[in-house]
Amino acid sequence: MISSISETANWVAWYRALESARPEPLFQDPWAAALAGDRGRAIAADMRGLRDGAGMVAARTALIDRMVADAVTRDRVDTVLNLACGFDTRAFRLDLPKHLRWFDVDGAHVIERKRAVLEGASPTCSWHPLVADLAEAGPRREALQLATNGAQRALVVTEGLLLYLHPEQVAALATDLNAQPAVAAWITDLLSAEGQRRAAKIYETPFAGADIAVRFGVDDTEEFFSPHGFAEVESQSTTREAHERQRLSRLYTWIFAVMQLSASGRDRMERSSRVVRLKRRAGCNEDSARQTP
Ligand SMILES: C[S@@+](CC[C@H](N)C(=O)[O-])C[C@H]1O[C@@H](n2cnc3c(N)ncnc32)[C@H](O)[C@@H]1O
Repeated sequence: MISSISETANWVAWYRALESARPEPLFQDPWAAALAGDRGRAIAADMRGLRDGAGMVAARTALIDRMVADAVTRDRVDTVLNLACGFDTRAFRLDLPKHLRWFDVDGAHVIERKRAVLEGASPTCSWHPLVADLAEAGPRREALQLATNGAQRALVVTEGLLLYLHPEQVAALATDLNAQPAVAAWITDLLSAEGQRRAAKIYETPFAGADIAVRFGVDDTEEFFSPHGFAEVESQSTTREAHERQRLSRLYTWIFAVMQLSASGRDRMERSSRVVRLKRRAGCNEDSARQTP
């Protein structure tokens, strides 16, 4: 169904196109349909019936929109590194400070298509598309160095990336981010271990031909991220957001309701899919002048 990891960008862009076409959308992405293209629409059609993909992606996008906007305003962020950006268009559709430098980083194929579709559109900030293979330590570090050069407070965004990585790859990325003193915070979606196991099973067949798998889920973020210099400071449940915004199917709405009957069930459900904000731990390679007041 999916032939390469880069096609997951078309897939989720199509879900944003669907959300944008709803009567009361959680966000408006006028470029999503063009970016997703026929490939995005076809993949989404093949995936129909598997999980609540469209509603969960819409909820995740809305949560990250809010967290990014808050972080930029509150934490005086001057640079955003949107790693594995895919066809995300936040640099064009969020109300951002003109001086904010926004780096969209992905593989060549995605960045070329993104440039072509967005040609003529006006970013709301200073937009810098950047090609890099984030799986390779050398190019990854070069991209991080380039994007943080001259930055005082950088925010990293990874959306729809970590779940596809092996835990060692997530750890390597975290270590490289920690090595850049300007990186102050990191917003990312995260699955719990149970959420990862469930998603891995659901997507096993559609991902089979593309050497993609849902590989990363974590229950104890402190234990995992702390050795790499990051601490969780904010968490929002994507599942809850999708439920509250009525973006879950009947079946999942029912499952959600049943899980609410016990505190542990509620906790498991809400933590199965989250968006979190991680902050550099005090004293972890941070230039003290850059600390949040
Ligand atoms: C599910 S998409 C998410 C895209 C985007 N963040 C979003 O939420 O719409 C995963 C993205 O990760 C990118 N990606 C995966 N492995 C990568 C790598 N080694 N280097 C750069 N980008 C990568 C893919 O090209 C794709 O755009």
